[in-house]
Amino acid sequence: MSRKNQRRSSSRGRRQASPKPDRRASALQFEKAQQSYVSGQVFKAKLRLQKLLRVAPEHVDAIMLLARIHTENTDYNRGAALVRKAIEYRPKNAQLRVNLGEVLFQAGDRTGALKALYAAHEIDGSHLQALEGVSSLLLAQAKEQQSAQLWGEARCFLEQFCRAAPSNVPKRWRLAECYEREGKLDERAQLLREILALEGPDSSAAYLLAAMENDGSVREGHLGYVRDVFDAAASQFDTALVEELGYVVPKKIHDQLDAISPPGTVFQHVLDLGCGTGLVAEALGARCQTLVGVDISSKMVEIAQDKGLYTDLFVESIDHYLTRCEARFDLVIAADVLIYIGQLESTFQQIFDVMEDGGLFIFSVEHGADQGVELNPSGRFSYSRDYIDQCLTAVGFRAVKVEATPLRMEGSSEVSGLIFSLQKEPACVPD
Ligand SMILES: C[S@@+](CC[C@H](N)C(=O)[O-])C[C@H]1O[C@@H](n2cnc3c(N)ncnc32)[C@H](O)[C@@H]1O
Repeated sequence: MSRKNQRRSSSRGRRQASPKPDRRASALQFEKAQQSYVSGQVFKAKLRLQKLLRVAPEHVDAIMLLARIHTENTDYNRGAALVRKAIEYRPKNAQLRVNLGEVLFQAGDRTGALKALYAAHEIDGSHLQALEGVSSLLLAQAKEQQSAQLWGEARCFLEQFCRAAPSNVPKRWRLAECYEREGKLDERAQLLREILALEGPDSSAAYLLAAMENDGSVREGHLGYVRDVFDAAASQFDTALVEELGYVVPKKIHDQLDAISPPGTVFQHVLDLGCGTGLVAEALGARCQTLVGVDISSKMVEIAQDKGLYTDLFVESIDHYLTRCEARFDLVIAADVLIYIGQLESTFQQIFDVMEDGGLFIFSVEHGADQGVELNPSGRFSYSRDYIDQCLTAVGFRAVKVEATPLRMEGSSEVSGLIFSLQKEPACVPD
């Protein structure tokens, strides 16, 4: 080969080899890409990152920013593929595994997400995001599948999380839920005391501790507790309660209504107190001309709203609604809700006051309190038949039908209850 040809071939060779940028050039290029991304010029950022990765394919920060851009653009496949590429370069990096878990979770691949988060936890046992992600996914699965094993696994990860982040109260509440499910009552009580110390005396932890002690000192429900419980339970409420716990109260109320009112009667103004996700509306809908629902949990009400069965829905406490209410109802329902209120004298009076003469009031309570009204470790109240009868007589309701019946399952036992149908008798007007 002539010298001239040699020079040409070597210069061609130089042009073909990928130019290796020095670190400073890469850093500069990445900084520019970041600036474009932060200022909202995402397309420009993407081009810059792609250009950088052509010459520096191992630039993990660039790979991860590009992954983020694709993920934000809901291109989860590319997002995940890029994070996996980054993991190839840094296999011992727990954060990258967590990031993969997040992308897969957004893509709806919960199994893949859990696997990635487990891998992160294996690399770094105290990685908070990994502990948080694994425990949340396991808890959701435990609830869906009602699996004792999954509750136990979720609890293990939550215990680790709470040790690593001792001031995180929401996670402590989730852990308390696990202890309750597993019947670990001493652990639950200890945890509630810790939550009480963190949240102060108004915390629902104080209420639940009193419920566990069952000493009769608490006679009123705790609205914050109820709201938190049902906001958290709302998305699974219908399946968990009806399908898994055999909840029958709306159906029983429907049957009582059929038994005590002429067939096909349509009620003009119906009030559903503690309407939850609208199971009562589903059971009674055809018999209501208008139907108003009231509930303290906005998440429960959102689900009721989606069913489109209510004329009006209000997110507020029963007490607050009844105090301000100017409407009058010919049918009032309170299914599985008075058990969160405690003593009922004033609630019965308020309900009486918003009813039309001759109107009907149907409600359920849990049955079985020696002392009239009792707060149970479940956080719900139960009542004696005598107590309810005395309250109703004092207000002026007439009992039309009372049925003793199981309401739903709790663990392996039935929760026994009473369903009352009452009438507001027209006031006697003296001659
Ligand atoms: C067990 S759920 C029953 C829901 C519905 N009645 C049913 O039968 O499906 C109890 C509901 O009552 C609501 N609740 C409890 N106490 C309440 C109060 N004082 N004021 C308003 N809503 C309340 C809760 O938020 C929850 O949605």
